[in-house]
Amino acid sequence: METVFRYISMPILPQINPQFSLSNMHPSNYRMRLFFDLLRIFVLPSVVFYLITTQLIKMNINLLMTPPSYFVFIICWLISKSFLTRILQRAERQKLGAKRIPCIRGAWPGNVDVLLKMLRAFKTSYILDVYLQLFEEYQCTTLNTRILWTDHIITMDQEHIKFVLSTGFEHFWRGRWQKERMERFLGQGIFNRDDEMWRMVSEIHDKCQRSAFTDTIVTQKNQHRGNTRPFFARERISDFDIFERYTAQTLNIISSPSSHSVGKTPIDVQDLYSRFALDAASEFLFGQNLDTLSATLPVAGKTKMGPKGSATEDPWGSFASSFEMAQQVITARSRVGYFWPVFELFRDKNALNAEVVHQWLDPLVRCALGEKEKMKKAGICSPVAEKNFLQHLAESTDDPIIIRDQLLSLLLAARDTTACLLTFVTYFMAIYPDVTKRLRAEVLEHCGAAGSITYEQLRNLKYMRAVINETLRLYPPVPLNVRESRAGGCSLPPSDPTFKADYNANMMDHDPRPLHMPGSTAITFLPLLAQRNKELWGSDADVFDPDRWLEGERLSRFVANPMMFTPFSAGPRICLGQNYAYNEASFFLVRLLQQFDTFSLAPEVQPDGSLPPPQWKHKKGRQAEEKIWPAAALTLFVKGGLWVRVAREAH
Ligand code: HEM
Ligand SMILES: *[C@@H]1O[C@H](CO)[C@@H](O)[C@H](O)[C@H]1NC(C)=O
Repeated sequence: METVFRYISMPILPQINPQFSLSNMHPSNYRMRLFFDLLRIFVLPSVVFYLITTQLIKMNINLLMTPPSYFVFIICWLISKSFLTRILQRAERQKLGAKRIPCIRGAWPGNVDVLLKMLRAFKTSYILDVYLQLFEEYQCTTLNTRILWTDHIITMDQEHIKFVLSTGFEHFWRGRWQKERMERFLGQGIFNRDDEMWRMVSEIHDKCQRSAFTDTIVTQKNQHRGNTRPFFARERISDFDIFERYTAQTLNIISSPSSHSVGKTPIDVQDLYSRFALDAASEFLFGQNLDTLSATLPVAGKTKMGPKGSATEDPWGSFASSFEMAQQVITARSRVGYFWPVFELFRDKNALNAEVVHQWLDPLVRCALGEKEKMKKAGICSPVAEKNFLQHLAESTDDPIIIRDQLLSLLLAARDTTACLLTFVTYFMAIYPDVTKRLRAEVLEHCGAAGSITYEQLRNLKYMRAVINETLRLYPPVPLNVRESRAGGCSLPPSDPTFKADYNANMMDHDPRPLHMPGSTAITFLPLLAQRNKELWGSDADVFDPDRWLEGERLSRFVANPMMFTPFSAGPRICLGQNYAYNEASFFLVRLLQQFDTFSLAPEVQPDGSLPPPQWKHKKGRQAEEKIWPAAALTLFVKGGLWVRVAREAH
């Protein structure tokens, strides 16, 4: 973690990318950015054209100022610009002793056919399959899509992912474009800032919670941080009270459709788990319950599809739907790419979503700031250990916007990811009853049929941990992510062995030079594909088999190379909530399995359009067997929700 503090901003190297001059603009100014870009693209060449024809050549304007000659000029302009870029990139490559990342060669200019194929695929095909097909077609794990003549790197290469997140951290940042897309929704939240601002925010977070989330196992490592030590006290186990309360409420809902019909009425567990995760996180973070578990639940067979899962029509529904819509909008923007502002010139599609979400959070922020004032006036100081995250935030800053943005980012981090994990564990319990049986036996052996749960007990649930890891491997809640390289570029380490065998057989790749990552360029990395890569995980990589986490030979692959499993990311920006998430999920599953033993899917009540298309059956890997439709919008989710019957067999 020390890298965070060693890390200094990169010097600004000579710029290849001309857009960089606008980098100081605030990310919320997307219209201004577009305006300047259009100036650069259309007006600048026109002015140059005018000057050349009138001043330099002193030609008769009327003769030259014709559309055809203007057109020719623009073409020459573009060609020379891309030529110049190429020369500069080549110089950079030579300096680094690196070679080009392979480029996609589409049938149409600007790879427009590939773009159209991708846009279509996002609607109908299996998650991230478009990317996988490209990697297979080009027989490499890192590719440049060159869509609309713009460099955009995609990678499923484990070594390159490790470099972006960890060993080469200083060469990357979230970047301008990502911030621009997320600004309206996430603002100054920890997910949406780099460098100074991120360091500031993450120091606040450090003080408030790094410790609070961390269970006692990792205590030692952090002992040197004096200011955070109070949180390490075992008393923080009080978090278990929170898990207990909301788990109980959730299980009540599962068993409530009047007890005689338990197991007969399907419920959307994805929706339920999202409420559970949000209520627990809101109490944990700001000591107040958003109480979404008490609001109207979606009804089997009557529920329409919401932005992600199922839709509900009450005030809570409006929060959830705005919260999810906002994520969809951000995802759609990244698919449209660089020119998305063209479609939002008159209306920021996230303005309303952000407003609805903010209306939920603002009262909490006001309340915390008010409390702080009151305490200060009365001269009371509550012990550090008793403060929650919001109170710490209010201690660190008086800016309600900063506080609100941090809360929102954390709710996003805590809700959708944990709900996703629990949803897919439930999916596996439904399709593999043997797994359920074994899990349940372990739970009953170590925790009994009821009674309080301790850290020690959770730590002894080896099979449970293996099931959770295996679920996170096949369905990482953050299946893909984006970074941007800093100006100046860098070289990537050698690729992982995925396509090495083929290369060597074909004698195609004798060039041992590293790949050149151009400067100021987006790189999309795909943990989901890396975590299903047969070369890394063995020929059964697509198979759900928790035992791979418990057995010598297969486990040794992971032990030798832990970075092939990065559901929580890695490096300085690794997830802060990892231990919290493991504890929360395990706790919930223990209680769930103490009460229930049978889970079955209810495809007949999945909303229209949420079941996998029939043609998936003829494909390979997990896609052929999939009973649900996994999809991604910032985080992974099941389209239309996961409708299951949860039952207790007659004992
Ligand atoms: C299964 C559950 C979870 C998964 C799979 C997960 C995964 C991730 C991933 C992949 C990142 C890196 C994002 C990026 O850098 O672009 C991340 C960051 C983060 N996570 Fe989690 N997360 C989970 C639960 C939680 C929970 C419960 C919390 C808080 C209560 C949390 C708080 C955070 C925060 C604050 C960051 C940002 C760290 C930074 O940028 O410095 N996460 N998480
Ligand atoms: C699960 O993965 C974590 C890394 O996230 C690892 O430390 C742990 O050993 C794994 N657990 C099991 C049971 O393999």
